[in-house]
Amino acid sequence: MFDPAIVCHGGAGHGAKDQPGVDEATSFGWAKLKQGGSALEAAIAAVVMMENDPSLNAGTGGRIRSDGSVQLDAAIMTNDGRFGAVTCIEQTKNPILVAEKILDKKINMLAGRGAREFADTLDIPRDEVEGSINPSGNDTVGAIARDSSGLIVVASSTGGCTGRPPGRIGDTPLIGAGLWCGEFVGVSATGIGEEITLKMPCVRISDRVSTGNDIAASLNWGINQFNSDIEVGFIALGPQGEGIGVANTKMPWSSES
Ligand code: GLY
Repeated sequence: MFDPAIVCHGGAGHGAKDQPGVDEATSFGWAKLKQGGSALEAAIAAVVMMENDPSLNAGTGGRIRSDGSVQLDAAIMTNDGRFGAVTCIEQTKNPILVAEKILDKKINMLAGRGAREFADTLDIPRDEVEGSINPSGNDTVGAIARDSSGLIVVASSTGGCTGRPPGRIGDTPLIGAGLWCGEFVGVSATGIGEEITLKMPCVRISDRVSTGNDIAASLNWGINQFNSDIEVGFIALGPQGEGIGVANTKMPWSSES
């Protein structure tokens, strides 16, 4: 038996104003775990709640691209070896629900039109996603949950960065870069996607924890891979169920265990 735990973040660059929304998502996911729900249910529930929060950069609050479109990315990884992601999906308020359905398919990732057509086969409704007109921060939401069976699930969702071209993909849906789930540790990143992608930090942080390094020290090591003017943050859930967030900027995060 493992102690259940959850940790969530609302994006690097987001301030105290967005803390209540993150706390609410964490509490919602935690309630699922306490009721005996799986880590998958808990992480998805928390991310859906944050995707529905127009202040956060995911789902409904996704950033508007240079052509006026709202294209969203989301990904899930589990410690039992599954991965599912969508990139540049349009007309979808909760892209994490589409990524979830890919977890058990023999594909890992779907992009753009193919992702949306896959969602159509699941009866996930097409909705116009207006996106955030007045963004208050830049980046991404994430949740990591562990249930009593020891299943760990990392789930992340983003609207990308304002003004980036259509078709651009940041770190969020990229395995090892924007998220990673090792046997006993999950890590999710937030920040400038191009910089994060180049450093592949989530798998490297997980490896450090897995080889006996302290989880907070490992996250700080991750932060130190970036110049201080590059906004970046991480959350992680460690082998003892400890949830922690570290950023080189403001970043609302919270945990329950
Ligand atoms: N970190 C999310 C993005 O750059 O798209």
